[in-house]
Amino acid sequence: MDEQLEPNKINVAGHLTIGGVDATELAHQYGTPLIAYDVAAIRQQFRRFNKVFEENQVEYEVSYASKAFATVGMFQVVAQEKGHIDVVSGGELYTAIKAGFPMDKISFHGNNKSRAELEMAVEHQIGVVIVDNFHEIELLSEILEQKKQTMNVMIRITPGISAHTHKYDQTGQEDSKFGFDIQSGQAEEALKQILTNPRMTMIGIHTHIGSQIFEVEGFVMAANKLVDLAADWHDKFDLDTQVLNVGGGFGIRYTKEDDPIAPEKFVDAIIKAVQKRVGQRDLKMPAIWIEPGRSIVGPAGYSLYTIGSRKDVPGLLPYVTVDGGMGDNIRPALYQADYEAVLANRASDKNEETVRIAGKYCESGDILIQKQALPKSQPGDTLAILATGAYGYSMASNYNRNPRPAVVFVENGQSKLVVKRESYEDLVRLDQDFI
Ligand SMILES: Cc1ncc(COP(=O)(O)O)c(C=O)c1O
Repeated sequence: MDEQLEPNKINVAGHLTIGGVDATELAHQYGTPLIAYDVAAIRQQFRRFNKVFEENQVEYEVSYASKAFATVGMFQVVAQEKGHIDVVSGGELYTAIKAGFPMDKISFHGNNKSRAELEMAVEHQIGVVIVDNFHEIELLSEILEQKKQTMNVMIRITPGISAHTHKYDQTGQEDSKFGFDIQSGQAEEALKQILTNPRMTMIGIHTHIGSQIFEVEGFVMAANKLVDLAADWHDKFDLDTQVLNVGGGFGIRYTKEDDPIAPEKFVDAIIKAVQKRVGQRDLKMPAIWIEPGRSIVGPAGYSLYTIGSRKDVPGLLPYVTVDGGMGDNIRPALYQADYEAVLANRASDKNEETVRIAGKYCESGDILIQKQALPKSQPGDTLAILATGAYGYSMASNYNRNPRPAVVFVENGQSKLVVKRESYEDLVRLDQDFI
């Protein structure tokens, strides 16, 4: 049994439950590997973020960073929660269109948006384009002129704050591929180009300091920086910046080692920082936007696998292999991300051994968990890896020509397939004969 599991997630049969449904039933009904989301957990995260803004009577948007998990069903849940989304590609925007997501609640990010992507954004009159570089301003300007349309824009700045390993440094300049640098005058030059373009409406300033962050300090520094820039631009250009967007990166618990702080604390600290600095700089209070991705969907997701082969080597940790791996969750192989797992069909049994959870892909690095305590497992047992809802399915691949898994949403004891499992036919759908 895993300490991370709340006791109410285990049913009388000793099985893990997800959204009120027995995980082994989900595995049986939909097959494995399967990604199952507890939809109530997704909604709860949105509501926790929203509540703090509401209580403080601050104008806001919780803009879900859809790169964490972008599917039609997910966008529909965000729409139900009155959320906003950020997209970073034409594909994510297309998914939002297919989901019937309100176009005016979409921000478009990216450091190399193509002409076609920007045209799509303009044609669908999305809420805001977050401009990242001078080439993009030029492209967008041409498109708006051609189509005789207008667009809201935000300017992304490089924060000059490095949020690494619990330490925040104010670096002034930062070597990042994203956004405009302030110190060298690039951000101001971008602003001038936007202000003199009658088809662009400058609505805000954006920054993003990093990911899986466990302290408020970096966000407070970022908020101060945004207010200062807005104040400088107010003095110089008589500009009222309507929105300060502090990005995402709110950390979650993957393993017992992680000690995340509550969404409420992050938001409260950001609001207080902006209010204080706005007061000091004699500015109008802007709206505050945040862009949580991982913290909305990460904890709500479970990857269910069927255990197959096992390899025991004297003196070394055994390998217990599952029917998925780096194709459905690249994070451990890509950047040594840690997870924890439980045996879904024996979730309350005592742990008896420590094993490695290996994937089935032809890479030695395809190890999903390096060290996991479990009851002694058998082929056919269902393994659930916890907190896999962010950057798992969205980074999935067909490596080794394995079909990508199905995704189900589970809520109030009901499950619904929201992404079908790929078939072998799907795998060759784009292939063309050579002879
Ligand atoms: C601009 C921007 N906003 C938001 C996010 C979401 O970050 P997270 O999923 O860590 O909350 C990212 C992640 O890369 C990002 O680049």
